[in-house]
Amino acid sequence: MKITSSEFVISNQDVKRCPDSKLAEYAFIGRSNVGKSSLINMLTNKKSLAKTSGRPGKTQLINHFLINKSWHLVDLPGYGYARVSKTSKAKFQKFITNYFKQRRQLVCAFVLVDVRHEPQPIDTEFMEWLGENGIPFGIVFTKADKLKPNALERNVELYKKQLLDGVWEEVPPYFVTSSSHGNGKEELLNYIGEINDN
Ligand code: GTP
Ligand code: MG
Repeated sequence: MKITSSEFVISNQDVKRCPDSKLAEYAFIGRSNVGKSSLINMLTNKKSLAKTSGRPGKTQLINHFLINKSWHLVDLPGYGYARVSKTSKAKFQKFITNYFKQRRQLVCAFVLVDVRHEPQPIDTEFMEWLGENGIPFGIVFTKADKLKPNALERNVELYKKQLLDGVWEEVPPYFVTSSSHGNGKEELLNYIGEINDN
């Protein structure tokens, strides 16, 4: 699938105020700074459709983007950002968990993980929480350009092994991406396209 049009729709903190539409949507979630907003820009071929920053904590709201006039991509704030206060962390968790629990239009979540790091409990626990809540998800490894091919393959294999050693009987669909080099774009878009067609 190719993205031929993309536009910002709305930002908010309340799942009840997300677009009232029947369109299918796909959301990107993961640690702060993992590359969620950059991935949206890479997929849509736009430099700054979603706001990015070298400093974690840039995205603070639920952001809807209308793609090809027929489905939504959703950019979410990151979790695990140490510099925010406990109160704002709790508030954040509430509106994000509400989004995942209540948003009927959500077809699939993508949990982004930095391919340079070994599995972190915050990510694997979030995947388990999605599983417990019956929310389909895929894993998007980000920043693949930062590793040499051998190291990249080794890290992906290690990640898969850890998931299988944990609660998962099979590895969820996964994609190896680089927003700066465009890796994984076709695979990810084709995956979404196949779900949309069914
Ligand atoms: P928050 O909104 O703060 O949760 O962050 P985010 O997950 O949206 O990350 P964002 O897209 O803002 O990117 C964070 C930083 O990582 C920026 O400096 C990006 O340029 C960089 N970055 C993102 N993706 C890639 C990638 O694939 N390769 C490289 N080398 N850098 C990347
Ligand atoms: Mg962001």
